[in-house]
Formats: sequence, C-alpha cells, structure tokens
Amino acid sequence: MNKETFYITTPIYYPSDKLHIGHTYCTVATDAIARYKRMCGYDVMFLTGTDEHGQKIEEKARAAGITPKQFVDNIVAGPGGIQDLWKLMNISNDRFIRTTDEYHVQSIQRIFRRMYENGDIYKGAYKGLYCTPCESFWTESQLVDGKCPDCGREVKYAEEEAYFFRLSKYADRVRALLETPGFLEPASRVNEMIKNFLDPGLEDLCVSRTSFSWGVPVDFDPGHVVYVWIDALSNYITALGYENDRYHDYQKYWPGVNIVGKEIVRFHSIIWPAMLMSLGEPLPKKVFGHGWLLLGGGKMSKSKGNVVDPYLLANRYGADALRYFLLREFPFGSDGNFSNEALIARINADLANDLGNLLSRTVAMVLKYFDGQLPAEREAQPLDDELTGMASALRGAYEKEMESFALQSALVEVFQVVSRANKYIDETMPWALAKDPAQRARLATVLYNLLETLRITVTLLQPFIPVSCEKAFAQIGADEENTTWEKAGVWGCLPADVRVQKGETLFPRIDLAKELEELEKLTAPAAPKAKPVLPEIVFDDFAKCDFRVCKVLSCEPVKKSEKLLKFQLDDGSGTPRQILSGIAKFYKPEELVGKTVVAIVNLPPRKMMGQESCGMLISAASEVDGKEKITLLTLDDAIPAGAQLC
Ligand code: MSP
Repeated sequence: MNKETFYITTPIYYPSDKLHIGHTYCTVATDAIARYKRMCGYDVMFLTGTDEHGQKIEEKARAAGITPKQFVDNIVAGPGGIQDLWKLMNISNDRFIRTTDEYHVQSIQRIFRRMYENGDIYKGAYKGLYCTPCESFWTESQLVDGKCPDCGREVKYAEEEAYFFRLSKYADRVRALLETPGFLEPASRVNEMIKNFLDPGLEDLCVSRTSFSWGVPVDFDPGHVVYVWIDALSNYITALGYENDRYHDYQKYWPGVNIVGKEIVRFHSIIWPAMLMSLGEPLPKKVFGHGWLLLGGGKMSKSKGNVVDPYLLANRYGADALRYFLLREFPFGSDGNFSNEALIARINADLANDLGNLLSRTVAMVLKYFDGQLPAEREAQPLDDELTGMASALRGAYEKEMESFALQSALVEVFQVVSRANKYIDETMPWALAKDPAQRARLATVLYNLLETLRITVTLLQPFIPVSCEKAFAQIGADEENTTWEKAGVWGCLPADVRVQKGETLFPRIDLAKELEELEKLTAPAAPKAKPVLPEIVFDDFAKCDFRVCKVLSCEPVKKSEKLLKFQLDDGSGTPRQILSGIAKFYKPEELVGKTVVAIVNLPPRKMMGQESCGMLISAASEVDGKEKITLLTLDDAIPAGAQLC
C-alpha cells in the first residue's frame, strides 16, 4: 500500500551572511515536524534551501570583489556554510534547493511567461521616488530627512518600465482562503493579514526589476529580472519538478505545508496563493508563521553585532541539546527571548537532571542488582498504576500537540512522564527492595516499569533529539522493533528479561556560572578585521612623500557636493594652502577650524567640483557597526605649522 505523503518546507534563506540562531530555530522546528511525520509512517518530503538572487547579494559580492555566484557558493556550500550548519544540526531534509540551480531558473522563466500569457502579468510603469546614484526606488516612508536612506542624496520622482502581477484580481479569493480555518496558523495571524493588507485593498505587485542584473532574466524581455519573491516563493514547487525535468514528484507531494517566520507570512499567505491561483495549481495546505527569537527583547541582526552563533553552541553542547532547548523553551507561534543562561539552565534541568538521571539511575540499578539482565518474575502493586497509566496515555496527548505544531507542549507532555518516573524511584526505593531477597520480583517489576517508561518517552523524543535517543535505546536494551510509533502507544514491549548496557552520560551537567563566563569571552565582539598590509616599498619611495603639519585656518562645505569640505591651511609657508577633503559626512566644518592636522603637500594639484586641491589631508578609514568611518588625523596643537613628518 502506498504511504500517505506529507510535504513540508522551511523558507529558503538569504545567503548574504552566515546564518544565526533565529534561522536555526526555524529549520530545527521544521525538521522535528518532518521527523515526527516520518515516524508516524508518512512518506515525507522535507525541503530547505537558499534564496540567492537580488540586489543585496549583488552588492555584497561587489564589495568583496567576487562574482555573486562565488559569493553565494561560499556561504551556502563553503566550509562552515549553510549546508554544513544543517549537517551539524542533524537536519533531515530530503532536498536542498538553490535558486541559482539551472533547473529552477528555467522553471521561473516558464512560470513568469505563463502568467504573462494568461494576462496576469502585464507591462506598466513603476512610479516613485528615485535615487539616481543608487539606482533605487524608495517610498516616502523609507526616506531619511526626505533623502535617500542609503547615500543621503536628493531623490526625485521617476517612472520605470516594469512588469506587474494582477494581485488585486485575486483579493476576494485570497480573503476567503485566509478565512478558511487551518490555512494560516496560528489563527491570530489571520486578522493581522486581513486588517493590514486585504482591508486597505490589494494593489498589483511590481514583479520585475531593471536596476540590477543578479536575478532570473525575463526571457522574453532581456534587461528585466524577475522580482526576487516571485523567484523565491516558486521554489516550493520547482523543487518537485514543476516546469522542469530535474524532478518528477510534483503531483505526488504538492500541496504541502510552508513553515515561515512571522515577517514573511504576508508573502506566503497572500502573494504565494495568488500566484498559484494564477497558475491554476493547488494552494498550500497550510502556512504556519512562527515567532522570532529575540535578544535582550530586540531583533538580532548582523549589523547590530548581536547575533547568536549556532555553530559555537552546537559544538559546545551538542546539536541535540541546542535543538531541545530551542523547541522546549519557546512556544512555536510566539516570540521568545534567547539567553545563554536560559539555554544552560534548560539543559541542566531537563536533559542532565530529569532525563539523564532517570536513564543513568535505571541502567545502573539493573546492572547493580541483576548484573544487567532482568529476571522474568513480576510482582505488580497499585503504586505502579499512575506511572504505567501516564506512560501508556502519553502517545495520544503528544500526538494531539504535534499535529497542531505545538512542539513545546508536546515536550512538556513527555517530560511530565519523565518526572513522574523519577518520583516513582523515590517512592519505590529500589535500593531498599534490593536488600531483601524476597523482594526480587518486586524489584524487577519496578526496574522494568522504569525501562518501559524510558522506551516510550525516548521513542517520542526522537524527532527532537535523534542522536541521543539512539544512544539511550542501546543503553535500555530497546531495538528498532520496539521503538516505533505503534509501539510507543503500547505498554510492555521490552522483553521481560531485557538486558541493559552501560553507556556514556548523554547530557553532562554544566557549571552555570563558569560556563556563562566562558561564553562571554567566546562571544565578545571580535575586533574589526584590519585590511591586509600592502606590498613592501623601498625607503626612498616613502622619503619622497612630503607630510607637513598644518593648522586649519578655515573650513566650509563645497557647493553641490555632499562629500567635500574645502580647507584653507597654514602650512608654515606664509601662503594659505587650499585642500579639498571628502569628509563632509563625518564633520561639521566649524568644528575643524583651529585643529592641527597632517597633509601631504607635494601631490600634483587636482580639480574637484571645479575647485583646486593642493595636496591631501591624512585621515584614518575604519569600519564601525558595519559602516565606513573616516577620522581626520589631528595632532598635538603644540606642534608648529610646517613641521615635517619624518
Ligand atoms: N529569503 C527569504 C525567504 C524566502 S521563502 C520563499 C527570507 N530569508 S531570511 O534568511 O531573511 O529569513 C529566513 C527565515 O528565518 C524567515 O522565516 C525568518 O523569519 C527566519 N528568521 C530570521 N531571524 C529570525 C529570528 N531571530 N527568529 C526566528 N526566525 C527568524 O526571508
């Protein structure tokens, strides 16, 4: 009999930087759901990948002096890249799509053409405020002091030829879809979408760009590249072979479930379904918008320098511990605050103490009292009923939570049973039973009940901490047969004379205070990377440069220039020297008057913005918070004008 299929996806990540703990959270959660469904017997297709086109990546590559493809190759497939991170985290994806993959590019061109030919994509004009040097359109609200937010220059009204998608045409159908129970979850996100986007009216969407070229070209109109979200959203079907010959399981797996972060719910619950409506294809079964991991209550971002590194944490505590923490600590649909303290406390409390102790104590007692193998005699008592009842009912409660992606609640259910088993040890006191040979059958029963509870709880923990579960099964004498989904719902599957094995401590306890200190040191922001030293020069070359100490007599902006300041300097010669310097973004002219500075004075005069510059002021270039900063070199005022640097 063919198994029922289940298709689940993560968003495809931007390879513009290394990924952080927030991205890891999203992938780990999706992985747990995929593993759960596989365990339940579904034929699962789990897709993740990378969203590699767009202006930002083009610019980053340019800044790094490499091609965009070289840039993304390095971040996606290079050492310590995205694919390595998923290996480290034991992500069980069946496929990995890169939007630069040839087959995907070809599919996008066909998808775009199909929507054009059916009349849903049309050519129009993109109108807005345009910054010419940056080649970018901005909305009124994006401007800073009415100017381009990137370069600070004036923007002007402009129109550009572009293709548009008739999103407005699908407004009613999208609204009905959003109102369909179970389509968009958590349900609280439905209102947000309707109120913020549907109620004000859906406008047609600009779906091509001409201002950069790193994207999928519109094959029937070169010069236009497909808007990156049209390119990206389609990955969920191109990766199954939609409009390409690379794969052939679109019919088998689509429609599926899209797991996404809350800020991209709009794209997934409005634009994506409308695209599918236009193509006449089935709509996603569900879009689930999870919450964000915050740091100190705020957003993590590379530019703020406050991202948490998943490589470091997984290497230090193990992927399972990190996976468990992420999925146990935060309710999947809401935001949560990440902290190292919470991570270590959670590992200690749940994994080292509750689960780890239950396992190590149980195995140690079977080894100590029965040489590792239980005898088959039994003696049950009413005291056992609560534990055996809870363990037997666990699968049902867990399933209910997992089916609604309430991963945290599913783990709470499991750990309630783990805690109950620890309490059962205290109640039954096996060490006291062991003293009395007449209690041998009773002691075997208590230990069997503990092993059985471990078998069931660990089976259900497999989607969350897969590697540790394998190790635990080996210790309690469980095998592939009795750790299936079916057997997790049945009490008494371990053989009566089960044999255990001593094994490693799965989750060693961590010294909180010491570890926090260590982490602090390890995660202190690294000093900005200094530029490499230039090739050697001979001393004579250096000696040819005439550096002089100068006093700033006056300083004023240069008309029509955002960058230049004009200086009159006393260089000790008696005649003021005029120098232009591109530091206007960093200083107010008046604050520099009277300063003692350094200039190289034997460069040939050069005209800038129609004005002559006789030499160059010396400044230091550095990077602060990811932005370039220029600092004018100033010297001790006691040094007289004209002094030569040697
Ligand atoms: N490329 C788009 C997605 C296209 S899907 C067709 C994108 N990429 S992203 O790399 O910026 O983000 C990918 C996912 O990571 C998003 O779901 C986003 O919500 C998630 N996260 C990024 N930072 C996050 C946190 N701090 N916390 C939780 N998830 C966050 O958007």
